[in-house]
Amino acid sequence: MYPLRRNRRLRQNEAIRSLVRETSISPNDFLVPLFVVEGTAVKEEIASMPGYYRYSLDLLKAEIKELWSLGLKGVLLFVKVSDALKDNKGTEAVNPDGLMQRAIKTIKDACPQMLVMTDVAMDPYSSYGHDGVVSNGKIINDDTNAILAEMSLSHAKAGADFVAPSDMMDGRILAIRELLETEGFHDTGIMSYSAKYASAFYGPFRDALDSAPVNMKDVPKDKSTYQMDPANRDEAIKETLMDIEEGADIVMVKPGLCYLDIVRDIRDVVDVPVAVYQVSGEYAMLKAAAEKGWLDHDTVMLEQITSIKRAGATIIASYFAKDVVKLIS
Ligand code: PBG
Repeated sequence: MYPLRRNRRLRQNEAIRSLVRETSISPNDFLVPLFVVEGTAVKEEIASMPGYYRYSLDLLKAEIKELWSLGLKGVLLFVKVSDALKDNKGTEAVNPDGLMQRAIKTIKDACPQMLVMTDVAMDPYSSYGHDGVVSNGKIINDDTNAILAEMSLSHAKAGADFVAPSDMMDGRILAIRELLETEGFHDTGIMSYSAKYASAFYGPFRDALDSAPVNMKDVPKDKSTYQMDPANRDEAIKETLMDIEEGADIVMVKPGLCYLDIVRDIRDVVDVPVAVYQVSGEYAMLKAAAEKGWLDHDTVMLEQITSIKRAGATIIASYFAKDVVKLIS
């Protein structure tokens, strides 16, 4: 007697394994998140994200050119705003000469073909660290949508190719799309954070931007009245289909690894590209374990990225993008 089928024949050596491999990684898969700060000659490491930095605009140029030379053709921009500029309405977010608006122009000057996507959310600009206007202990949905639409328009005017609303208000995609269309920005795309969970994996990101919700009376202590409950699966499909109806060009699941069932569910029902955000806490976990010698950094990194793609991601926003591309080139 012998086994009728020997699956191991297809695993005997690297040549046959690569011939039958179902998922492969390339620079085209990635969006690179970038943190921008005021100042000159600033490249500061983020404490909870070893090997990841905040850049001032002058140094951002060199970073952008390096990304392009590595074949990384899209960035997702976040800015760190000083406390003095923060208020409950995120007024600074629509300053035509604000840091985000200057960052967009700087990148387009340095590398006109680089795809520039911008984070649209109030939290870096909010004195309360929330993604919406706070009033009487609540986040006010529709007032927030009006601000998000203005913010998107401001980014589009500065030259952003796509805006990426990451707030989870109801109806914000429609509000943004309408204003962009009315103002003639037909070609400005929307990548919607459509299934974004209220995750504790965002901790290091909030360190990077100093954007965590403040601990004050009458301010919600977390984001669970707008971001999704990690226990929910069907709701992710509902949220995503609604965003597509409202005009989202790309939808997103966030975080990554713990939510790959959601990625597959969504991939199976939508007809637009699905992005996955492998978030700051996922990056921090691997860096910490590797530093201790408990995990092999590069192998685990590739396994994670491969798994995200295998689950159904068309686009992966990842802090590992540069490391991965250097490793596979
Ligand atoms: C803000 C925003 C967050 C992230 C992206 N945009 C944080 C949050 O919602 O609190 C998290 C990204 C990461 O953790 O890498 N709206």
